[in-house]
Amino acid sequence: MGESTHDHLFKLLIIGDSGVGKSSILLAFCDDEFNEKQASTIGVDFKTKFMQVRGKKLKLALWDTAGQERFRTLTSSYYRGAQGVILCYDCTQKGSFEHVKFWQDEVRKYSTNQDAILMLVSNKVDLPDPQVTRQEGEEFAFANSMMFIETSAKTRQGIKQAFEEVVFKILDTPSLLQSTQPSGARTVNSASANQAAAKDGCGC
Ligand code: GTP
Ligand code: MG
Repeated sequence: MGESTHDHLFKLLIIGDSGVGKSSILLAFCDDEFNEKQASTIGVDFKTKFMQVRGKKLKLALWDTAGQERFRTLTSSYYRGAQGVILCYDCTQKGSFEHVKFWQDEVRKYSTNQDAILMLVSNKVDLPDPQVTRQEGEEFAFANSMMFIETSAKTRQGIKQAFEEVVFKILDTPSLLQSTQPSGARTVNSASANQAAAKDGCGC
């Protein structure tokens, strides 16, 4: 029996309109890279990333959905079991911000974790002439019980922090943590608890 590589497995989903920078945010976070010619996602992509937080080893399963409408029925199935959802808009495209409500409804419809953590991300803050102010983003997030952060996949501003804040919030939410232990971990724990109990028994 091998030791598990992690204490918790978190499923995180990244959603939002096509072109807002979802794949770029994941590329920046996982590989510290940026691609001006990032290709539009077909269907769904997947990345993993390990993090050490508060002495715990975390494995993040990161699902990168396609924003294009033609993939919508496919991507809806990926909401299942996610503990965290990162909802992105492009601060230079007002339409992508106006569409945040649509994405929020998708989360309501398809998410199976009532307490899933939602982070609203205003991406591309490196660009001049934003069409959505920070205040507008923050107010929407506050009114809808989401966290909020400004990011740039290009300069990496806010990228690590966005994921860290979601992860911290999941760690602080017992109902979400329940389903995040690697398979077999509970059995291993109870087996060692039994061993400890047996030892105690022998020692007296
Ligand atoms: P779909 O896969 O179609 O849903 O799009 P997406 O949300 O994954 O967007 P993607 O990451 O493909 O980025 C779209 C374009 O925006 C690409 O040309 C990226 O290089 C660019 N881009 C992404 N993030 C940033 C950013 O923070 N700043 C700037 N200047 N450009 C960005
Ligand atoms: Mg993409």
